Amino acid sequence: MIAGARTSFRIDTWNQLARNFRYIRGTFDDQSAFEDLKRVLAQLDTIHSAIGHAFYMSISPAHFSLVCAQLNSVGLNQDRHGYRRIVLEKPFGNDLASSRELGATVDEVFGAGSVFRVDHYLGKETVQNILALRFANGLFEPLWNHRHIDNIQITMAEDIGVEGRAGYYDGVGAARDVIQNHLLQLLALIAMEEPVGVDAASLSAEKVKVLSATSAVSPLADTTARGQYSATVRGETYLPGLLEEDGFDPCSTTETYAAITVQIANRRWAGVPFYLRAGKRLARRTTEVAVTFSSPHHLTGSAEAGPPPQNVLVVRVQPDDGISLRIGAKTPGEGMRIQDVDLNMSFADSFGGSSPEAYERLILDVLRGDASLFPSQAEVDASWAIVDPVIAFWAEQGRPDTYQSGSAGPSSAIPVVTRTGRAWRPL
Ligand code: BG6
Repeated sequence: MIAGARTSFRIDTWNQLARNFRYIRGTFDDQSAFEDLKRVLAQLDTIHSAIGHAFYMSISPAHFSLVCAQLNSVGLNQDRHGYRRIVLEKPFGNDLASSRELGATVDEVFGAGSVFRVDHYLGKETVQNILALRFANGLFEPLWNHRHIDNIQITMAEDIGVEGRAGYYDGVGAARDVIQNHLLQLLALIAMEEPVGVDAASLSAEKVKVLSATSAVSPLADTTARGQYSATVRGETYLPGLLEEDGFDPCSTTETYAAITVQIANRRWAGVPFYLRAGKRLARRTTEVAVTFSSPHHLTGSAEAGPPPQNVLVVRVQPDDGISLRIGAKTPGEGMRIQDVDLNMSFADSFGGSSPEAYERLILDVLRGDASLFPSQAEVDASWAIVDPVIAFWAEQGRPDTYQSGSAGPSSAIPVVTRTGRAWRPL
């Protein structure tokens, strides 16, 4: 089912898998349900020569500790018949303190090497390709520093709203939902030093180092922004604003858009601003990392009015996965007029369209015991340490600004970049 599953559904494979499904009903606080689970797994182990069990917790993090304790109490965490692994879906806690507490609980029950924290962005091919782009090419590394790079923008824009996920999203918001994890993982891959290998320990060592050197730029009132989407009509459909969404507290201050500026205190990145923004119900769906190089000396002037052209390397995570490099080129005809054009690489054109979905890759890696695409506890903690002060600052402010669904976000986000003479990339 794993490789190429996007292109074909194989009924024989499905039937083989479905024969082994078992359904056990119970509540998290009901120990007998865990006894049942243990019995059923033991039966399956007699049918198949089991190599191990992975417990996948796609549940509210509020229940992680209880479920771990229950698995522990019936002995399902122990390694009697092959491996025991536990898989956690983000968010890993609500802040640094709760993340540490959760980490300590799961590590104690399962052992640190058996805990897999899912950040599905790391399963995306384009995200893994950031390392290849940087370290499998000689071209970029000499330029990859504050002498040549002016700023880096990491954008995760979604055109959808909260899609009925009030129970999870209200009180969480964009910074905890996606900046603390997906966007800071992208930042780590873009900014880290070359790892000594691509195994879990080597990758994590470099990511922890760079994340530990990263902090939000002050004053937060100027360098951050947050917003909530308001109602809109799309075609014939009325799309409710956040406060009217089912299940949301009508006074909720949860942000659906967040922008923050961070800096990295090391020699490579001294003075380079990293602008991170994420939002729902924006103009279009796009996730990208844009590396803008310092302004070149231009030959005689741009073909368009405005600031001198800058080279921009864009990793398009989705949609239309690929990499483009914006360069200045002479426009045809008389004189020397320079215009920006894109050198464009598309993963679909280069490799075909059948790469595995993020979750296919990650679940396979859990079963194989390969943790290289899973953030370690130390990465998760370092990421909380970056966003916690921003979230605490927002909590002291009033309500978030509102923004029109289908727009580029709240207008208060514009000065976050224009204050330094730069501009957001258009959405
Ligand atoms: C999840 C967030 O982690 O990522 C969601 O909880 C978000 O709020 C989703 O919609 C987006 O994932 P993708 O892969 O579509 O970018």
